[in-house]
Amino acid sequence: MSLRLGDIAPDFEQQSSDGPISFHKWLGDSWGVLFSHPADFTPVCTTELGLTAKLKDEFTKRNVKAIALSVDPVDSHTKWIHDINTTQKTRVNFPILADADRKVAELYDLIHPNASTTATVRSLFVIDPAKKIRLTITYPASTGRNFDEILRVIDSLQLTDSHSVATPGNWKDGDDVVIVPSLQDPELIKKKFPKGYTAVTPYLRLTPQPNKP
Ligand code: BEZ
Repeated sequence: MSLRLGDIAPDFEQQSSDGPISFHKWLGDSWGVLFSHPADFTPVCTTELGLTAKLKDEFTKRNVKAIALSVDPVDSHTKWIHDINTTQKTRVNFPILADADRKVAELYDLIHPNASTTATVRSLFVIDPAKKIRLTITYPASTGRNFDEILRVIDSLQLTDSHSVATPGNWKDGDDVVIVPSLQDPELIKKKFPKGYTAVTPYLRLTPQPNKP
């Protein structure tokens, strides 16, 4: 069965371009982004991994560790990393799991036989420090993912956890946010949102993003 939001991300031990990885131990207290790609030495994947490397500071700012995966062996990853670094003008600064035996692909349901019987699809999981899966996306092999969108979702999840707010459609950092419907105590609302809020309807209550000056 495929993994669902709120499930604990399965733990595993697997080889990677940075040596053996024990996943939960490697995550530690960080958030994680585990993402699969169809294969090494493919064009879209090369751009995705380059982008991820360039976003290192943005991931670190949010206490997030990134880890990629395909069903290729370590020596293939090592050769491909050289290409990524050269063509994308960056340095791959995160591990790529070498899942040649498909151990992780099976745990995370990354091979969709009606798309390809051999290659992993372009899936991505955001995992919180409690190891819970908070976002899953699956893209087709021919469409590269938008990593700015991944950062946006992580910002939203972290705001929800820290400030009891949700984020509206097309929200971007700095826009007004929504007070979660479960929060009804007027005293608590006043304390949590000293800048006040606008009730567009009783259930749509907008407030300035609380972690901004
Ligand atoms: C790729 O770059 O991974 C890719 C591109 C087109 C079709 C399938 C995969």
